[in-house]
Amino acid sequence: MRGYDRQVLKNPTILVFDSGLGGLTVLREIVRARPEARNVYVADDAYFPYGQHTEAELIARVVPLMGELIAAHAPDLVVIACNTASTLVLSHLRAAYSVPFVGTVPAIKPACERSKTRHVSVLGTKGTVQREYTRALIRDFAHDCEVTLVGSPRLASLTEAALNGESIADADIAAEIAPCFVDGEARTDIVVLACTHYPLLLNRLERLAPWPVEWIDPAPAIARRVSNLLGPDSASLPPAGDPRLIFTSGRRHPAAEALVHSFADEVAA
Ligand code: DGL
Repeated sequence: MRGYDRQVLKNPTILVFDSGLGGLTVLREIVRARPEARNVYVADDAYFPYGQHTEAELIARVVPLMGELIAAHAPDLVVIACNTASTLVLSHLRAAYSVPFVGTVPAIKPACERSKTRHVSVLGTKGTVQREYTRALIRDFAHDCEVTLVGSPRLASLTEAALNGESIADADIAAEIAPCFVDGEARTDIVVLACTHYPLLLNRLERLAPWPVEWIDPAPAIARRVSNLLGPDSASLPPAGDPRLIFTSGRRHPAAEALVHSFADEVAA
């Protein structure tokens, strides 16, 4: 992948892309890491949830859409802040466009390096856990670790609903995470959050877990990768302000607006 070694980009433009609000968990870390960057956040909510589409449908949707977004916003770097898309379309995007892409893929390697009980679960969408990409990560990095793949049909949609102010029953969330907790001779001690929506529910996941585990959110690592690719930061520059929010449905999203405003506020403070 092309980088920006030794070249200082002043106020680079970063395009952060997800199917919905989940990528905001990645955007938050990017704003913290590179406050001077101009961020454009695009949620393809007209096609949400990605986890319910076939691989062929997603490739046919995301690759041309990304072409339009690159033409419209001329980003210096694109972050695919969605595991369901990254595990499928990253190679297609890199083949089609010359802008650097950073993806979000299940953090199986660090989880298996850290697990003490050697039992790790990967919680993602049904699409992500079925991908060959995810299976290859397990073959390459699990070693002696037992990895349980949990494809949640509803958790991304429940997260969106919760963010939109709907009240979501604890039992509905508990049912989605229950298969992650394998209790045999050794218990699961790490759950990989392999969908960018899930960290938005972290407090509830922690509270509803049958026993305490480490939940791995890859967002800080993704932000570090973005920052390295952009090159030395321009610490002297003022923060770029609120990220721009675009929803492919054309709908307004007050909860997301408030959230991105709070990210920008935090770095300006
Ligand atoms: N945020 C997306 C991910 O990381 C998925 C949500 C969806 O199904 O659209 O996988």
